[in-house]
Amino acid sequence: MSHILVTGGAGYIGSHTVSCLLDLGYKVSIIDNLSTGSIKNIPQLADFYFGDFSDHSLLKKINHSQPIETIFHFAAYLSVEESTYKRQMYLENNFDKTKALLLFCQNYSVKHFIFSSSCTIYGNVNQPTVAGHTPSAPINPYGQSKLMVEQLLATLQSTQFSSLSLRYFNVAGADLDKNLGPLHSQPTQLIPLASLAACGKLSHPLKIFGNDYLTRDGTCIRDYIHLKDISQAHIKALHLLQKGAPSQLVYNVGYGQGYTVKEVIQTMKKVSGIDFPVIEAGRRDGDPPCLTANSDRFKKESLWSPQYNDLEAICLSAYHFEKSK
Ligand SMILES: NC(=O)c1ccc[n+]([C@@H]2O[C@H](COP(=O)([O-])OP(=O)(O)OC[C@H]3O[C@@H](n4cnc5c(N)ncnc54)[C@H](O)[C@@H]3O)[C@@H](O)[C@H]2O)c1
Repeated sequence: MSHILVTGGAGYIGSHTVSCLLDLGYKVSIIDNLSTGSIKNIPQLADFYFGDFSDHSLLKKINHSQPIETIFHFAAYLSVEESTYKRQMYLENNFDKTKALLLFCQNYSVKHFIFSSSCTIYGNVNQPTVAGHTPSAPINPYGQSKLMVEQLLATLQSTQFSSLSLRYFNVAGADLDKNLGPLHSQPTQLIPLASLAACGKLSHPLKIFGNDYLTRDGTCIRDYIHLKDISQAHIKALHLLQKGAPSQLVYNVGYGQGYTVKEVIQTMKKVSGIDFPVIEAGRRDGDPPCLTANSDRFKKESLWSPQYNDLEAICLSAYHFEKSK
C-alpha cells in the first residue's frame, strides 16, 4: 500500500482521517509538533514523527522509510481571532512553511497533495458559497494564509504532481467509537465551547459574539459538518487524485445548511438537558456574518455522500465526548 504523510495528524481532523486511512490499509506517517494536537489522538498503527512539517531533514527521514506518495496537509494555526493580532505568526506557520513543504514535494516526487483550506477565504458573503464562482476575499489573516496556499498550488504545474484543496466549513462533533474528538484545552469554536459549558467546565458564561448581524436572530450563521463526514471527504479526495483527476482542484465541503449561534446553543442545551449560562458580548474581529457551502460539485465529482447531517447528533456526540474526557 502506498505511503501517506499526514501533517497535523495529532490534531482533531487529522487524527480522525489517519484512523480512516489505517482502516483502509494505508501506511501512514504523521508529523506533528503537538502545538495544539495531542499524543492521545495518535492511532497506534501510525508512525509518529515529532517535529515541524517544514523540516526537510525530518521529511527526508520519513521518505527514506518508503517514498511518500501523498501528503494530507492539515497542520496549521486556526484561530480567526488570534490571527487578527498575530498576523505574522499565522502567515509564517500556514503559508511560509507550506511553501517549504511543497518544495520538498517537488524535490522528492510526491505525487498528490491534499490541502485543508477553509471557508474563511470567502470573507463576507450573503448566499451559499460556490467554489470557483464566489469570489475569495478573506477578512482575516487566517483566511488570507489559506488563500495564499491555494494560489501557490495553482502555480505548480507538473504532470507528476496533483493537488486538491478542500475548503471546509465548521467541523464539529466526535467519533465515539474511535474515541476521537476535539481535545483543545482552550477551544475557540462554538460547539466545543458549548460542550464545555454543558459539562460545567467553562469558568465563565458562554459568550455570543455579536447580536446585531443581518441574520435571522442577529447572530452569525455557520455550516457545521460532522467530523466523520469531513474525513470521508478526504478519502474521496484521495481517490479522485489517484484516479488521475486534473490538478489544482478546489472544492467546498459542507452541508449547505446554516445555523445561528443561538440555534446551536439551544440545540446543545436540548441534547444535554443542561441550561448553562450564556451572555451576549460585542462582535469579534474577523467574523463574517454568514458562511454556508454549496458542495454540489464535490459531491458530483467525488461521489462524497455525507451521512451525518444532523445538528442534534453533532452536538450530542460533542457533549458525550467532552463528558468522557
Ligand atoms: N476545525 C475546523 O472547523 C476547520 C475548518 C476549516 C478548516 N480547518 C483546517 O483543518 C486543519 C486541521 O484543523 P483541526 O481542527 O484539526 O486543528 P488542530 O489544531 O486540532 O490540528 C492542527 C494540528 O497541526 C499541528 N501543527 C500546527 N502547526 C504545526 C507545524 N508547524 N508543524 C507540525 N505540526 C503543526 C498541531 O499540533 C495540531 O495537531 C487546519 O489546517 C485548519 O485550518 C479546520
